[in-house]
Amino acid sequence: MALRNIRIEGDEILRKKCRKVEEIDDRILTLLDDMKETMYHANGIGLAAPQVGILKRVVVIDIGDDGPGFLELINPEIIQMDGLQTSTEGCLSVPGRYGDVPRPEKVVVSYVDRNGDGYEIIGEGLLATCLCHELDHLDGNLFVDRATKFYTKEELEKGE
Ligand code: NI
Repeated sequence: MALRNIRIEGDEILRKKCRKVEEIDDRILTLLDDMKETMYHANGIGLAAPQVGILKRVVVIDIGDDGPGFLELINPEIIQMDGLQTSTEGCLSVPGRYGDVPRPEKVVVSYVDRNGDGYEIIGEGLLATCLCHELDHLDGNLFVDRATKFYTKEELEKGE
């Protein structure tokens, strides 16, 4: 495994639409391993492939103790959404900025795992937010596009 460089807002690659993974080959498996290492190293709860410069529909997520553990999602798609919640988001590609973003309260996401098996995952609360945030990256969208209010790190810490 290896750490990959995280692209920062302003890098055009973050604004491009990712292609579907047609074949899960060694390059995709290495990408998944590297994204996992890169996400944990950066203390993130999710990472999408364009954030490491790869325009493929691949996402890794681990929201911590309240979540289902480490997730690898290939070709994820939201197939159902319900409700509305607004929570404060940040992004490894947008360091130092946070914002309130309205998202569905619950989503159902279909995806394929590294073995090529298809699954569906139900996400509520933080997991729903994280799934929506990461899947947005695959279409070139960042949370700053959807945020209704912004905070600096200092404001966020003071406000809590
Ligand atoms: Ni992000």
